Amino acid sequence: MAKRIIITEPDEILRKVSREVTIFDTRLHTLLDDMKETLLSADGAGLAAPQVAVLKRVAIVMTDEIFLEMINPKIIEQSGEQTGAEGCLSVPGKSAQVTRPDEVTVKFLDRYGKKCKKKVKGFEARAVCHELDHLDGILYIDKCKNLVLDNDK
Ligand code: CO
Repeated sequence: MAKRIIITEPDEILRKVSREVTIFDTRLHTLLDDMKETLLSADGAGLAAPQVAVLKRVAIVMTDEIFLEMINPKIIEQSGEQTGAEGCLSVPGKSAQVTRPDEVTVKFLDRYGKKCKKKVKGFEARAVCHELDHLDGILYIDKCKNLVLDNDK
């Protein structure tokens, strides 16, 4: 595994729409392993492939409760609403309140191409929505109300 460089706003790559994954080979596995190591060392809750300059529909979410490796993920059900503080490793030093669904069901493929489905709530639902947005070139700063510098808090 190797740590990769996380690109930051306003890098244009973050604004591109990522491509679907069709090949589930060691190259994909290396990407996933590298993303995990990168996320662990950055102390975040999730990371999407475009954040390490790879325009593939790949995202991981890691919290105390879950570890998800999602390939070609899609939200198939959502309900409720929550508003809470959000940050992003590609928008360092800032955070803001963002409204998201409170519960989502996401379907995706695992690293071997096997179909999976997972229902998540609360913080995990927020993290899944945030990471999936990255795959369409969307950042939370597009959706927030009051962006603040972390050191202003
Ligand atoms: Co992010």
